Amino acid sequence: MIIRLFLLFCLAVATVTTHASTLTQMLPEPDDSQTLTSPDGRMEATFYLIDGIPLYELTRDGKPVIEASRMGFVLEWRDDLAHAFVLKDVQYSTFDEVWHPVWGEEANIRNHYNEMLVTLEQPVGSVESMDHSTEKRPTVMQIRFRLYDDGLGFRYEFPMRYNGIDNALVCFWFKEELTSFHLTGDHTAWWIPGDYDTQEYNYTESRLSQIDSLYEKGHEHGGWPWTDFSRTGVQTALQMRTDDGLYINIHEAATLDYPTMHLNLDPKTFTFRAWLCPDAAGYKGRMQAPCHTPWRTIMVCDKATDALRSRLILNLNDPCALDDVSWIHPVKYMGVWWEMISGKSTWNYTNDFPSVKLNPEPGNSQSSILNSQFTDFAHAKPNGTHGANNANVRRYIDFAAKHGFDALLIEGWNIGWEDWYGKQKDFVFDFLTPYPDFDLPALNKYAHEKGIRLIMHHESSASTVNYERWMEKAYTLMNQYGYDAVKSGYVGTIIPFAEGHYSQPINNHYHYAIVEAAKHHIMVNAHEAVRPTGLYRTWPNMIGNESAMGTEFRERIHPGHTTILPFTRLQGGPMDYTPGIFEPDMGKIVPWGKKMQHTICNQLGLYVTFYSPLQMAADFPEHYEPYLDAFQFIKDVAVDWDTSIYLYAEPGDYIVTARKPKVSSLNKAADGVGQLPDGKKNVISNASRYVYAIPDTVSIFNFQFSIPKDTWYIGGITDENAREFAIKLDFLQPGKTYDAIIYTDAKDASGIPDDSYNPYGYTITKKKVTSKTTLKLRMAPCGGFAVSLRER
Ligand code: NOJ
Ligand code: CA
Repeated sequence: MIIRLFLLFCLAVATVTTHASTLTQMLPEPDDSQTLTSPDGRMEATFYLIDGIPLYELTRDGKPVIEASRMGFVLEWRDDLAHAFVLKDVQYSTFDEVWHPVWGEEANIRNHYNEMLVTLEQPVGSVESMDHSTEKRPTVMQIRFRLYDDGLGFRYEFPMRYNGIDNALVCFWFKEELTSFHLTGDHTAWWIPGDYDTQEYNYTESRLSQIDSLYEKGHEHGGWPWTDFSRTGVQTALQMRTDDGLYINIHEAATLDYPTMHLNLDPKTFTFRAWLCPDAAGYKGRMQAPCHTPWRTIMVCDKATDALRSRLILNLNDPCALDDVSWIHPVKYMGVWWEMISGKSTWNYTNDFPSVKLNPEPGNSQSSILNSQFTDFAHAKPNGTHGANNANVRRYIDFAAKHGFDALLIEGWNIGWEDWYGKQKDFVFDFLTPYPDFDLPALNKYAHEKGIRLIMHHESSASTVNYERWMEKAYTLMNQYGYDAVKSGYVGTIIPFAEGHYSQPINNHYHYAIVEAAKHHIMVNAHEAVRPTGLYRTWPNMIGNESAMGTEFRERIHPGHTTILPFTRLQGGPMDYTPGIFEPDMGKIVPWGKKMQHTICNQLGLYVTFYSPLQMAADFPEHYEPYLDAFQFIKDVAVDWDTSIYLYAEPGDYIVTARKPKVSSLNKAADGVGQLPDGKKNVISNASRYVYAIPDTVSIFNFQFSIPKDTWYIGGITDENAREFAIKLDFLQPGKTYDAIIYTDAKDASGIPDDSYNPYGYTITKKKVTSKTTLKLRMAPCGGFAVSLRER
């Protein structure tokens, strides 16, 4: 008995000193073991109780993937949801459907799983509670398991009533989630450090056992502010590979009204435990029944390409919550943005004000005494470096319109940028008042007349309080002038103070912004917000997120970074990575600039290997002008897909992907501009023109009714190593001939920032191909390739 109690104690604490597989063998026999099998019969999830403690295991082809692992919670004010459970009921079901995302990597997604719903009870008298009003009721916790051919999802549910009796759990607070993932060995992992405030890190590839010793290195060149919690803490989606070649990915799905889950490793047992981001008071989930947690997901694939093909996270999210999605569309855009990131120009309009005080009633001129207290931009001296000025914005609109883009982002249009950064100001922007040199109505009109929408920018400077204060007015202003998309940002320390970027209240803020935006028919691309968990299935107006290290980190981005992101960050949803930098030597823009590590063809490849319905051509117009033949690929490529085929992939090394455009959404953005009162009608986007094979000279009205050509795009990217791939075009329709335009790195191209640096070298080849053709394509160090294929 003493030994048994000791073993249970070992299970109950986070640090287990014995090797856990030995521990599992020594455990007493489980009670009430329940097993769930995947539709293909290869995966098995088992749930059981040992002396009232809930545990689960997962196997594939009979071999363990997750060994005996804890489930449950530590609570405030009452006994934990971690012991004293009895099994009340088990229900099995199966589900199989095909659904159609509003946008995505494919038009048809199969959601096929077997489900097991386990109901557990802590009987009256078995646990203690400070809430005496509920202690005469049983405590009910359910665990819903969904097992797919490519992985497991499970979540905890807390019904209000069970079997006609009220649950003892009403309002309850989590201090810890005990969910654990006991892995079978020292797997290779691609990880970023666990952090309550940023995901802007390079990935580190290492064995699990090396995470602790690589802790400092894992933080190098990362984002700000950073708030770590453990030397062995990592973020999800965490991609791993076993020595047997199995690809295991731990993440979460549908994180709503709950903190984000990071993981903390016990390196002695290779056991990760859920590590939730606490709120300002230290709580890790404030729950009110009926409620449930997000899904905890364990994807298991035989091949790396299968991990890219998996729709596990999306399938675990709820169907679309919006009745009308006609206003949601893919967007290819440019921006008055890289100018500021590169240092060429500034967000701020003047250098006059070290401190800015904004008028809480913008435009109010009732009281001259009051007005004199606020910063007067109208009479400020322009600094001459402000990027968002009328002339410059018009220059970008002209270029974007000429090359068939849908939209233009402009940052630094609104007052307040003079002291926005690092000051932890509550009232930092009003999101309404333009700088004197940004004529908002006129620029929108100018853009619309050319078939371009302007994308709004709301940098909250992490003051969620202030953003919520202004949100309704800000969205209304957008509606008034025809903006239908906003890029929001959360740079800096969160206000309310002491909250982290991924705590429950702040996750609720990001969601609030999406829901409110949907009421205004506004699409949202949030930077520095929580990394996505597939919620775009339910809220498809969430068309993008940054939430990872993106192009703005320039030379700090390691080669190979973009070959890891689709396995990790992109599992939850698309990223506004902002590719397309054709002048990667930043030293040519500003004296302190350094060399970014990629070739032009690498950037082209990203438009296919990275899925996003929102894709940017991030560089300056003048950097595209010398390379318009290569730029043509960015113009032609689609951003929403019918079919995606993952040809070759290995995290950290390379990705080669082929995709076929979804024709129904091809011209949606251009059509939307045409519906604006001042919008240019019958604009055909470049991608539509390419896919439908409409000659440049033709202005066509009913092109939707013409039969589109069969069109495919292929993209490839590599890390610092040159590679060659043989690409069989057997996905093309047999018997048809296609024109291929092939963009490859020149023989001497290289993105390595030494004497060999030549990011600019590329070759464009045109040839006839069929489904029997095999293309042999080489990528330079830090390089890539892109191919467009169009039926003749
Ligand atoms: C960080 C964002 O990621 C970047 O895109 C933006 O330009 C700056 N914040 C300013 O809002
Ligand atoms: Ca950022």
